[in-house]
Amino acid sequence: MRPDEVITLDGPSASGKSTVARRLAQALGIPYLSSGLLYRAAALLALEEGLPLEEEPLLERLERSRVQLVPDPGGNRVLVDGQDRTEALHTPQVDRVVSQVARLPRVRDWVNRRLKEVPPPFVAEGRDMGRAVFPGARYKFYLTASPEVRARRRSGERPQAFEEVLQDLLLRDALDQAQSLPAPDALVLDTSQMTVEEVVAWILERIRD
Ligand code: DC
Repeated sequence: MRPDEVITLDGPSASGKSTVARRLAQALGIPYLSSGLLYRAAALLALEEGLPLEEEPLLERLERSRVQLVPDPGGNRVLVDGQDRTEALHTPQVDRVVSQVARLPRVRDWVNRRLKEVPPPFVAEGRDMGRAVFPGARYKFYLTASPEVRARRRSGERPQAFEEVLQDLLLRDALDQAQSLPAPDALVLDTSQMTVEEVVAWILERIRD
């Protein structure tokens, strides 16, 4: 692997891509960037300040703040004007509006600019990293898994949560669909029958070849 390499890892919600991206980056000794956290930060600012989920007010607000994605051994931290807001990004309130925010082209452009400020090498994880943001990346992977497997992974050991999680995933899939197509030159891997360790090993083999 060259020192200026970008590895992209895309896929739908709960496809395991965040965990895989983190482990892969650890194995390679390079940072990983979660683009979804930047969309979540935009959604959080809109919610906290009661902004309409429209381009003009949202962009104006985002451009006034310094939003940073900071690689960290445990994942990524998100700083807004120097304040760590990471813990506030995974609430049901943010979950509910983030797809709407992520559909706005100027918000997508804002996220993509933040990502492109980061010097390679890194693993970039999201929905459109290989197709839209880093089309020149040498290694592109797209992870999928059946909706049932993804819902089972997300609901963990709580069988009563399964049906609700599945319905939520199907809704998110539909909302995120336009952004979630694999790059034509990405290697697509169905992880339904694989463990995280197997997926990481499979990707590492392709990179080291
Ligand atoms: O990966 P995540 O669940 O944290 O992503 C949050 C939302 O942002 C999700 O609705 C999809 C959207 N997203 C996107 O449209 N493009 C990306 N590159 C990353 C996330």
